[in-house]
This record gives sequence, C-alpha cells and structure tokens, in this order.
Amino acid sequence: MASGRPAIAATTVLLLALGCSGSGETGTPVTGSAPPGIASPASTPPAAGPGAPGIGDPDFPTDGNGGYDVEHYGLKIDYNPGAKHLSGVATIRAKALQELSSFNLDLSGFTVERVAVAGGPTTWQQGLVFERTGDELTVTPSDPIPAGTAFTVEVAYAGEPRPVKNSSNLGTYGFIPTRDGAFVTCEPNGAKTWFPGNDHPSDKARYDFEITVPAGLTALANGEMTDRPRTTGGKTTYRWREDHPMVTYLATMTLGRFELREGTTASGIKNLAAVDPRFRDSLDDLYTLSGKITDYWATVFGPYPFSSTGGVVDDFSAGYALENQTKPMYGGFDPDEGIIAHELAHQWFGNSLSIRRWKDLWLNEGFATYAEWLWSEHEGDSTAEQLFRRHYAAGQDDAIWKYAPGRARPDDLFNSSVYTRGGMTLHALRQRIGDRVFFELLKTWSGEHKYGYVTTEEFTALAEKLSGKRLDALFDAWLFQERKPTTW
Ligand code: ARG
Ligand code: ZN
Repeated sequence: MASGRPAIAATTVLLLALGCSGSGETGTPVTGSAPPGIASPASTPPAAGPGAPGIGDPDFPTDGNGGYDVEHYGLKIDYNPGAKHLSGVATIRAKALQELSSFNLDLSGFTVERVAVAGGPTTWQQGLVFERTGDELTVTPSDPIPAGTAFTVEVAYAGEPRPVKNSSNLGTYGFIPTRDGAFVTCEPNGAKTWFPGNDHPSDKARYDFEITVPAGLTALANGEMTDRPRTTGGKTTYRWREDHPMVTYLATMTLGRFELREGTTASGIKNLAAVDPRFRDSLDDLYTLSGKITDYWATVFGPYPFSSTGGVVDDFSAGYALENQTKPMYGGFDPDEGIIAHELAHQWFGNSLSIRRWKDLWLNEGFATYAEWLWSEHEGDSTAEQLFRRHYAAGQDDAIWKYAPGRARPDDLFNSSVYTRGGMTLHALRQRIGDRVFFELLKTWSGEHKYGYVTTEEFTALAEKLSGKRLDALFDAWLFQERKPTTW
C-alpha cells in the first residue's frame, strides 16, 4: 500500500440491481461464524469502517482483504490468446464481517469497467465509487454494508493479463500466456492477475467458471464440467464448477490445445488427464498414475476430499508444478511418480487443509515431500527411513540447517528446507511416536480439519494429544532452530 497512487481515478459507476436469491442474501446476522482472517482474535468486536487492505498475514500485508468472507466466485471470462486480451465479469458473493464503509478486492492490472454491489437491506443498494491503488481495488458503496450481511459485488474488467514476475525467487506465476493459450498457476498470490478477489489462503470459497476461448482450444478449470462445451461464432464456452471450498491460488483456467483422457479411478473417483500435444506420450501414464496414486492416498490420508482427480501437462516450462485443486499442473515436463505423488498429496495437505498464514507452508510442502517418500516406500523403492538418512547426512554447514522450515520466509518461501526438512520433521516424529500413532495422526489431522484452515500449533498439539508424549523439543529442533538437529 505504501507507495502506490491511484492507477485509475475514482470513477462513479452505475448501480446494477443484481438478482438476490437464497436465504443467505437476506441479511441474517452473523452468528458465531469465525472470521477467516488471522489478525483479529474472535473476541474483538468487529470495527465499523473501511475493510482492511490485507487479511492480516504479517508476511504478506496487502494480500487478501479484511472485513468480509467470500462464499462464491462466479467467473465469466473470455480470453483471446492471439490478442492476449482477457475480458471478465466476476460476481462475488460474500458476507460482511464488520460494518463496511468500503472494502477492497485484490486485482493486478486490467481496466475496471464497472463495479456494482447488491444484497442485504435494499437501503444500501446505491451507486458506487471505486478506486485503484497498486493491486488493490477499493469499492465504496453509497451506504455502508451492515455487519453480518450477505452481499454480492460484480466487477467487469478487461485488458492484457500480466503474470507476477521476478518477485524474489518465486519465478513467474499467475496467468501466464503460452504459445497456444495460458498456463494458470497462482501460488502464492497470482489469482489477482486474472480475477478480483480475496487473494489469500485464509478465505476459501466455491467457484463457477464460464470460460470462452477460440474454438479448437480447451479451457481447463477446477472441479467438473457442468455442461458440454458449446461453440458458436468461432468460440467455445466451457463451464466448470468447484463445489468444495478452494483457496484462490489453486484456481485455474489453463487453456490451449490439449489431448484428454477421461474415466474413473479403480475406487470410482472421476479422473481427467490433459496434455499439450507435445506431451502426447505422457497422457496414458499421467492418467493411470494419477488414478492409482489418488486411490492409494485415500487409504493413507483418509477419503479423497474432492469430486475428481487428474493432472495437466502444458507446453510451458514454469520450472515447477502446482497442486491446483482437482487438477495439478505440470509446467513443461513429463511428470514422474514422485511429483505426481507430491501434487496429489497436496489435495489433502494444502487444498482440503489450508494454511492460515504463509509462514506455516511446511504443513503443505513438508507433508507433500514426505508423501513422495511414502510412495517410494510403498512401491518397494527406497524407504522413508533411507530417504531421511540420505538427507540427514548433509553436513552441519549445509543451507538446509540454516533455514528453519517452521517459519517460511516471505522472501524465500519455497526454500528446499520447507520441503525436505519439513518432510524430515514428519519422519523424526514417526520414529518417535511409532507407525501406528503416526498414521492415525495423518488421518485424524486431515479428517478433523477437512476443508478448513490449519496452523503449526494445531498440528503439534494434535501430535502430542494422540501420542501422549511431550514433543516440544522435537518440533523445536526440527522446525524452529537454524542449526542441524542432533537430539530430539
Ligand atoms: N506448491 C508448488 C509445489 O510444491 C510450488 C509452487 C511454486 N510457486 C512458484 N511461484 N514458484 O508443487
Ligand atoms: Zn508442493
């Protein structure tokens, strides 16, 4: 927020009376529903006034927004890869957690053409003003939105999407144009490069996508198709729905030329694999392994939390893969079993259970890395114990011991310590509490927090509770010390 000045002058826009349907939009007061944010303890009475420009993650102070909780995103987006032009209408249903004189959405680039708000008592459904400052879009209704009210905000926007680039070591992420479409992978905060929203993992919502692309291209979003693709006037519209709570960075609309294989896993979960024609030879393996691994994880971590699984290989060398909900994406390489096991483990750890703040990222990456070791062990290759020892052999001066994985750093979020030392933490725990309690813990953890938000403290407390052991020294040595653990 510091140095930005309005990119577009405050603009008066017309009110658009949006249809309000469903009991959620009649202005029932909020009772006992915890705010998704992380800054304010539940006991603090919500302030009246502008919603905060950030959701309260001190490491990413302007990510997400305060004062409301999104319940649903309706994203109607048209993208023309030739012109690199995107035009969208985002219809966002949210609930005010405080009285809101104004509120923010995260949006990077684009020209905002129109903003409208509706819902709650009709008295506040008035004409609107909006303002752009950096990646914040501030919407000011003519009358404040009362605390506890459900409201809908509609934003029409257009322009050339630009991914986030060169931000420390994160590489390029967000909406990334490719030769034949776009590769859309948004962790940690790139959703704002293609739709306005509350771009932080501590506010999940459900999604409907209506994506229109030139005929001949396929648009892949999360969840399942709700209708067959419809082509008119040289354009095809794809409708997808993710009906389970999802964080913004897992949303995707990857598009281009794709070859598809569809079916169900042995246990009956819908499975969709899609590959760019350049990776045609990977299609069958991707399909088969994704199905087999999803089914196996369900036996280890508990029931699969979503309605479909699969994977996408695009012809774009991102240098990473991302666990997009129901559709992990592999950026320009033929994925092996290890990385498929990793991205699918994230469907439980990261996607169903999501971190409230980025510093706890090891709860995603340490678990997904440990899952790679579990898969290796399951396949009769190296055991988790062997893999742990191999990594533990790194000398005392190795960088992995200088970075405490329990406190992921915003300027080096995806450091390999968060992955490998995070995974080693779980193995050290397994050694200490034994296989029976360890695997019970994994299932209990994923079951108790299904579709919810988690912190490191909640995990360590559960580990202590189920094992009946004091584990503070173990977690301290493995997660929080900037030196090689020797006793735990
Ligand atoms: N969560 C991803 C994985 O472990 C990594 C995402 C990296 N993001 C980035 N912008 N480099 O598979
Ligand atoms: Zn990962």
